[in-house]
Amino acid sequence: MGAEPLEIHLDDRDLSRSLRRDVRIGLTAAAKWLPPKWFYDARGSELFDEITRLPEYYPTRAERAVLAERAVEIAELTGAKTLIELGSGSSEKTRLLLDAFTRRGGLGTFVPLDVSVSALAGSTAALAADYPGLRVRGIVGDFTRHLDRLPTGGRRLVIFLGGTIGNLLPVERAEFVAAMRAALEAGDWLLVGTDLVKDPAVIVPAYDDAAGVTAEFNRNVLRVLNRELDADFDPAGFAHVALWNPEQEWIEMRLRARRSMRVTVLDLDVDFAAGEDLRTEVSAKFRPEGISGELAAAGLRTERFWTDPDGLFGVTLARAV
Ligand code: SAH
Ligand code: TRP
Repeated sequence: MGAEPLEIHLDDRDLSRSLRRDVRIGLTAAAKWLPPKWFYDARGSELFDEITRLPEYYPTRAERAVLAERAVEIAELTGAKTLIELGSGSSEKTRLLLDAFTRRGGLGTFVPLDVSVSALAGSTAALAADYPGLRVRGIVGDFTRHLDRLPTGGRRLVIFLGGTIGNLLPVERAEFVAAMRAALEAGDWLLVGTDLVKDPAVIVPAYDDAAGVTAEFNRNVLRVLNRELDADFDPAGFAHVALWNPEQEWIEMRLRARRSMRVTVLDLDVDFAAGEDLRTEVSAKFRPEGISGELAAAGLRTERFWTDPDGLFGVTLARAV
């Protein structure tokens, strides 16, 4: 069948407008920060795929183990006609589900949605070639803004893997879950992957690997600002820092100025003191009761919760009630 042309809900003008707004808000704040979606240009998406193969980065392997064990059960329970994937990236692990749905029959359409055009172009072409009976409809969009544009009708299963839900701040996460429920019909399904709270000695290296890939990924956001907004960050002037925050139970990714610097971006002069941090990402870790409670508050009932054999990563299958 071949992949259909990408459906674009975010064009260069929207992206540049929201990047400017985010940069203005984040870099003039008392504690500087940037939202994480700007990591994922073509280079950022490649670096993330490299992260998923690092020995220290356990979430991808752990989530894959759950999906490998449960894919058939997920296909049977949900009987989905349409599979929608948010923040799909390369959709590599999703193949486990597509294989199970293909064997069972009945799945007609796969709809990956991502902000990264390059990741979507690659994944939709590869999947259309490997699953010839499947309609593959990629959407370029923002899962914090465009859930009302998802295809409707037929029994749907929405999947949100990789622990990406943990990259939203708690308020954003509550808004996301509510918008997700609003986009679903009663009886539709949601499958969410969440990294679990555990010893920080296991978590921290996953975000600060020995080979320095995560550090490069973190600094990539500065290269995006240099290219898109003609900013003059010196990426080498910033050190990568991954900090466990025990109160919030999240990892904070930061870029720490190695010396004092003045950066010009848009019409702003942004001063960094030596040692000052720019927060680029949080990655929240979850407890099972927390996940099911947050979903229930929005009208999503947890039907199954699975972990990998080592109990590192959780996968929740919930249903809209
Ligand atoms: N699901 C894949 C990739 C996870 S990385 C996995 O489990 O390995 C996070 C993905 O979400 C990236 O592909 C990134 O481009 C995408 N993303 C980040 N913020 C987004 C947003 N606001 N809207 C849509 N996609 C987003
Ligand atoms: N969703 C991934 C996670 O929270 C994203 C991620 C992995 C990430 N490593 C990173 C984001 C490093 C920023 C920096 O695990």
